[in-house]
Amino acid sequence: MSTVFLNGEFIPAEQAKISVFDQGFLYGDGIYESFRSVGGRLYQFPRHYQRLRQSAEALCYPMPYSEQELENILLMLRRRNRLQDAYFRITITRGPGQVGFQRRLEGELTCLIVAREFREFPEECYRQGIALRVARTRRNAPEAINPKIKSISNLNSLLGKLEAKEAGVLEVIMLNSRGEVCEGSASNIFWTRDHWVFTPSAATGLLEGVTRSTIIRLCEQELDLRVICGEYRLQDLLFSDEVFITSTSLEVMPVVRVDDFTINQGRVGPIARRLRQALHRDMGKTEPA
Ligand SMILES: Cc1ncc(COP(=O)(O)O)c(C=O)c1O
Repeated sequence: MSTVFLNGEFIPAEQAKISVFDQGFLYGDGIYESFRSVGGRLYQFPRHYQRLRQSAEALCYPMPYSEQELENILLMLRRRNRLQDAYFRITITRGPGQVGFQRRLEGELTCLIVAREFREFPEECYRQGIALRVARTRRNAPEAINPKIKSISNLNSLLGKLEAKEAGVLEVIMLNSRGEVCEGSASNIFWTRDHWVFTPSAATGLLEGVTRSTIIRLCEQELDLRVICGEYRLQDLLFSDEVFITSTSLEVMPVVRVDDFTINQGRVGPIARRLRQALHRDMGKTEPA
């Protein structure tokens, strides 16, 4: 039976209860963040904490825990659940309120943290590469929903995920309302040509993944590649040498097909492979990727 952390207490998951008037449940008024621990240490925790704080500020939530407090809670939750490499999700909502527009905007937040063993994607996916589909659903316009808020009202991504499922692929590419390449439903995207690496800029309305910024750093510091963030069309990506997507759980996943278009003659390229190895070294993982 797993232990969760709900509103200041470690409790068995089946005893954890949230009000039917919780504003997260009724209105999607909530934020979340995911974290990983590798070898007993949290990976990139300050960056994830910073993004959680940014989401909280945008919705006028006070941060329920300092960085140090939250780190201690996560590590304790890992120990209580006897996890090796853990995957955590913290969800914070505006907490219990009422139905209707006159709802209360100040009060006790709901804060739930769950943890489970981190599940790697099958090694075969990294060896063979995966296929992507270009989604019909466009990314939310940044003028409508600030992409810096990692929000639990995530229907836009869910619609992308459903399209991926329908097409039998792992992930989709979502364009923004201007038709520019933006990101995946829950990942960021990169492609390469010679020694150049391209990725959509924040101006396209993407969520700036923590893995995305680590990969930009590793490209420049470890692989001596120049990264150019910009506004690109799908054609730029289709005529590239390599394509890969990144996220906390996918790490660096090579892409060999986009719709009916084959990338790099269907072969995984060296840059995606070397970047995943560099990411593993950055995590302090001992075994090679
Ligand atoms: C929309 C979106 N883009 C990108 C990412 C990747 O972010 P990270 O690298 O921080 O996991 C996520 C992760 O959940 C996401 O939901």
